[in-house]
Amino acid sequence: MKKMKTGLRDDFLWGGAVAANQLEGAWNVDGKGVSVSDIMTAGAYQKPREITDGIIPGKNYPNHEAIDFYHRYKDDIKLFSEMGFKCFRTSIAWTRIFPNGDEDRPNEAGLKFYDDMFDECLKYGIEPVITLSHFEMPYHLVTEYGGWRSRKVIDFYVKFAKVCFDRYKDKVKYWMTFNEINNQITFTNDFNIATDSGLIFRNNESEAEREKLMYIASHNELIASALAVNIGHQINPKFVIGNMVNFTLIYPASSDPKDILLAEKSMQRRYWWADVQTRGEYPLDMVAYLKNNDLMPNITAEDRVILKEGTVDFVGFSYYNSITVKYRDNNPEYKFIGDRETVKNPNLEYNDWGWPIDPVGLRYTMNWLTEHYHKPVMIVENGFGAYDKVEADGSIHDDYRIDYLRAHIEQMIKAVDEDGVDLLGYTPWGCIDLVSAGTGQMSKRYGFIYVDKDDEGNGTLARSKKDSFYWYQKVINSNGADLS
Ligand code: BG6
Repeated sequence: MKKMKTGLRDDFLWGGAVAANQLEGAWNVDGKGVSVSDIMTAGAYQKPREITDGIIPGKNYPNHEAIDFYHRYKDDIKLFSEMGFKCFRTSIAWTRIFPNGDEDRPNEAGLKFYDDMFDECLKYGIEPVITLSHFEMPYHLVTEYGGWRSRKVIDFYVKFAKVCFDRYKDKVKYWMTFNEINNQITFTNDFNIATDSGLIFRNNESEAEREKLMYIASHNELIASALAVNIGHQINPKFVIGNMVNFTLIYPASSDPKDILLAEKSMQRRYWWADVQTRGEYPLDMVAYLKNNDLMPNITAEDRVILKEGTVDFVGFSYYNSITVKYRDNNPEYKFIGDRETVKNPNLEYNDWGWPIDPVGLRYTMNWLTEHYHKPVMIVENGFGAYDKVEADGSIHDDYRIDYLRAHIEQMIKAVDEDGVDLLGYTPWGCIDLVSAGTGQMSKRYGFIYVDKDDEGNGTLARSKKDSFYWYQKVINSNGADLS
C-alpha cells in the first residue's frame, strides 16, 4: 500500500555506495600506486582470494580494471542522477594521492581526478559522502612498515586526511574515516585483517600473535581516526564526520542464558571500536578483556586526550545480515573469533553466498546503535548480492533485489517513524555492479545498473538499467512513501 508520507527528513540522503578500489580500475594510471586490493586475485564462493606477494604476472587481479569508473564516471553519475540520487558514497583511493603512502607531497593528478569527479556529482546536486580508507591502503606501507602495527602509519594517514580535507573542503561535507574498522575482529581471516589493517601474515603467526597485533593495529587506527576527525573539524567546522562499522547483529541461538551471554560478549567484542570513536574511551569490558588476556596495546596519556578530542558526529554502518551464536563448553571465556560459534538461523532464508536475509535485524540494529551511542546514524551499505540474468531483449528482472531492499527500507522507516531513530541517509551497496570485495567476483552483483563483465574479465563494460533502477527511482522520488 502506498503511504502518504514518511517521517524521513526532507534532506534525507538517498543514494548509493561504492569504494574506489572496487569500481575505478585504472590501477596504475596517472601516478597511482599499488594498494592492498591490487594484490588480491579473484576468488569465488568458499574459495578465498589469494593475497600475493606483490603483483605476479599472469594472475587475475579483478580490481585492476574493475568497471573502469575512472574513465566512465561522467556517464555513471548521470545515471545516478536519473535515479534521483541525493548523495553518492565512494572513497578516495589513498594510492592516487600518495602512491606509496610515505611521500612528502601528494600526486596532483590523483587530486585532480577527485576534483573533477566531485564537480560532476555537484553539477547534479549529488552530495559526495566520502570514506578516507576503504580496504585500499598503499601496499608499500605494508611491506615497509608492517601496516597498521606501526605507529608511523598514523602520521601518513593523518597527512593524507589533511590533504583531502584541505583540497575538498568546499565540495565534500560528509566524511568517514575508515570503512568497517571492526572487520578485523575476524583476525583469523586473511582478507579481513589485510584489508582493514594491512596485516599480512606470511610466517605462520599463531592465533594468539595475530590477535595481539590486531589490537595494536586497531589502537593505531583509532588514534589516526580521532586525529583526522579533530583536524577535519578545524579545517571546516561544517564537516560532518563519522566512523563506519560493519554491523552484523549477533543473536543467541536459544534462550539458554549461556547463549545469551555469548551473544552479548560477542557484540562487545565486535563493536567496541564504535564505543571508542563515539565516546573517546575504551569500554570497561574491553579493558578487562585486554588486561586479562595480556592484549592491552600501549595507550599513552596523550592517546587518551586524542581519543576524547576526536569523537565522531555520526555513526555510519553497513548492514547486510545477522549472525546467530551457540555456546560451546570449550569456550568458558565466551570468546568470539569470527565464525567459530556461528550456527544457522532456522528463522531466516539465505542467499547464494550463504548470507541470511534479515530485514527486522536492520530495525533492531538502528535501535541498538541509537541507544548505545546517542548520535545520528547513516546506513551507508545494505544490499543483496545475487546472480542476474540478462534477457534476450537486454532487460534484467531483479525482483529478488527489489524484494530485499523493499523489506529493509520498510524496517528502516519504522525505526524512524516508530522508534525515533535520527537517520541521515541510506546508500545501498554497489549501486552499480562492481568487483565483490570478499570474493573478487563480478557475478555477485548488487547494482541497479548492470555492467557487462564476467568473472574472467570478459565483456564490453556497457551499462544497462535493471528493473530495480526504475523501482529505486520511484522510492527516492516519493521519499520512501512508495515502495510498491
Ligand atoms: C562490505 C564492504 O563489507 O561489504 C564492501 O564495505 C563490500 O567493500 C560489501 O563489497 C559486500 O561484500 P562482498 O564481499 O559481497 O563484496
